Amino acid sequence: MKNYELRNGVSIPEIGYGTWKTPDGETCEKAVETAIRLGYHHIDAAMVYGNEESVGNGIKNSGIAREELFLTGKVWNSDRGYGRTIRAFEKTLKDLQTDYLDLYLIHWPASPNQYRCWEALNRETWEALTDLYKSGKVRAIGVSNFRRNHLTPLLDAEVIPMVNQLELHPGMVQADIVSLCREHQILLEAYSPLGNGKLLNSKELSEMAEHYGKTPAQICIKWNLQHGFLPLSKSVNEDRMRANLEVENFEIAEEDMRKLDVLEGFADGNDPDKVPF
Ligand code: A2P
Repeated sequence: MKNYELRNGVSIPEIGYGTWKTPDGETCEKAVETAIRLGYHHIDAAMVYGNEESVGNGIKNSGIAREELFLTGKVWNSDRGYGRTIRAFEKTLKDLQTDYLDLYLIHWPASPNQYRCWEALNRETWEALTDLYKSGKVRAIGVSNFRRNHLTPLLDAEVIPMVNQLELHPGMVQADIVSLCREHQILLEAYSPLGNGKLLNSKELSEMAEHYGKTPAQICIKWNLQHGFLPLSKSVNEDRMRANLEVENFEIAEEDMRKLDVLEGFADGNDPDKVPF
């Protein structure tokens, strides 16, 4: 698998394995172990997914050397602020059974409609990530679900985010925040690259997939890569995990990329100003 390079020179495998909604326990352990065996060397985890310990067990059972794995964690909303973030990070290390992370993200921005001091709260959380980065406990730091108003105040920080993880898929291009991130060499990671699976029922997408001799899921993953996004694909099924990696031997034509950009009916993503689940 190819890699992207983050602004600080750290390499990151261009497809990640997502663990959101993967049921905790044996399903998650097996899925992570299988994914690693199939060649996913980049695992995207988060405390709020409620399955970090199972992710850690899956990694351990796979037998992969820690340095061959790129491991991401995220600090959840209830742990915002300097001290809480540091403690949440330590808990995540313990649950994932490792002594460092490759990437740590602020999972969700504090927003103006929620807190009067939303900007200060984001800065404090960011300072904790910066200190973790400077201490060497994490190799890169970033944010998730940040739009322009959330990201801009961090752009004059001592260390600026290296990654922004957003919902990105055909029909959802988030042009404004994507262009801001590109200006600042902030890598865009795409969660729900298959539109939460819903895109797979799109007639237009199915027809295009047939034309390329690929599956709709493979078209979605390739669309992300051709945009320079890093798709976090997720499946608990071994065959689909394998198929989602087979995207190297074809190219989506420019005009089809534009058609996928504006696919109708899939732009209804998360609103970062609303707290999810
Ligand atoms: P499953 O785990 O049973 O494969 P998204 O990444 O956009 O959130 O979509 C994830 C959903 O898509 C999951 O429900 C997953 O279910 C399903 N999925 C993942 N890969 C494929 C695929 N290649 N074909 C069909 N469904 C898929």
